[in-house]
Amino acid sequence: EKTYKIAVLAGDGIGKEVMPEGLRVLQVAADRFGIKLELINFAWADCDYYARHGKMMPDDWKEQLQPMDAIFFGAVGWPDIVPDHVSLWGSLLKFRREFDQYINLRPAQIFKGVRSPLSGPPDIDMMIVRENTEGEYSSVGGTMYPGTEHEIVMQQSVFSRRGSDRVLKFAFELAKTRARKHVTVATKSNGISISMPWWDERAAAMAANYPEIEWNKQHIDILCARFVLKPQSFDVVVASNLFGDILSDLGPACAGTIGIAPSANLNPERKFPSLFEPVHGSAPDIYGKNIANPVAMIWSGAMMLDFLTGSSGAGRAAHDAILEAIRNVLATGPHTPDLGGTCSTTELGMAIAKQVAAA
Ligand code: NAD
Ligand code: IPM
Ligand code: MN
Repeated sequence: EKTYKIAVLAGDGIGKEVMPEGLRVLQVAADRFGIKLELINFAWADCDYYARHGKMMPDDWKEQLQPMDAIFFGAVGWPDIVPDHVSLWGSLLKFRREFDQYINLRPAQIFKGVRSPLSGPPDIDMMIVRENTEGEYSSVGGTMYPGTEHEIVMQQSVFSRRGSDRVLKFAFELAKTRARKHVTVATKSNGISISMPWWDERAAAMAANYPEIEWNKQHIDILCARFVLKPQSFDVVVASNLFGDILSDLGPACAGTIGIAPSANLNPERKFPSLFEPVHGSAPDIYGKNIANPVAMIWSGAMMLDFLTGSSGAGRAAHDAILEAIRNVLATGPHTPDLGGTCSTTELGMAIAKQVAAA
């Protein structure tokens, strides 16, 4: 029987507070469903490591992580010590690109007991599929005439046919497995006149392979407005790297809090380890108080178990049990302050772990 090797990288700030709860629930679920895990801590990919070594990770990070079945990741960023682009390009963004985790799958769902800031009771249940290796996040560009009044800064977006087609395909395949079988393609082909009309063409070509899937494209500005006005109209939403980043904070915010939003950074071919992490960051403003919501971390662990086992058998059951426990605990409380409650990170984690262990 296989033992899954999990790299544990807690990172900075509340990453260090939510990780223990993520691991607590992961372990309880794995035990209950007979999944063997080997959890391996790595004391790098955080800003303290940078302060000591002048870099985010050891040079052989890739050799160390390649043998892992998955990476369980907290959050990185401590802008007082390391500029954000340095810490993130030195860790998370490196993982995504060098491990070709080209899908960033980010669900947003409303739960009983969690109050949406929107009026009415919007029935939110969407999957944001974010392109995760190219697009607006490129390192192509530079500064001309620096320090002069002629200074010009340029940064190019990169859209490859392979990169666009594979994320579009993933979105349509995902829609096939869902009840509503609907895809919304985020675009901005009215303003961004080279890459986005091309992206629309790739989307239409992909959609032609899926006659059973209903789809439309929406410009990112009105799409954001409709996330707020009509969130129940979305099922699968596929977007470029930056648009997907924005939508994946907005969707969960509409569903009440970003503190519960998980993500799966997937290399679907399993050539490289995939990475599972909360959507949120290191939240320096609340770090040290043990009040961060651990649900995003815990739910990310559920997605990891599901993916590890190929969405079959024990892993799927463990995923569903964790989601059920999250649903139950959110419905009754206790709640962390982001949900209007007063409980701690640890208390919420323990309440969910207890539910997973029971039954
Ligand atoms: P953030 O997500 O860290 O925080 C935004 C706001 O949401 C803050 O008010 C924070 O208190 C709140 N919040 C976030 N997670 C929460 C949780 N689990 N429970 C309760 N409240 C929560 O975003 P930011 O402030 O833009 O970034 C802070 C740092 O994190 C920066 O260094 C940034 O680059 C980094 N960051 C990292 C990741 C990542 O590692 N994946 C993601 C986003 C931001
Ligand atoms: C996320 C984060 C990262 C991103 C940052 C920290 C680089 O916001 O995972 O959503 O933009 O991808
Ligand atoms: Mn983000």
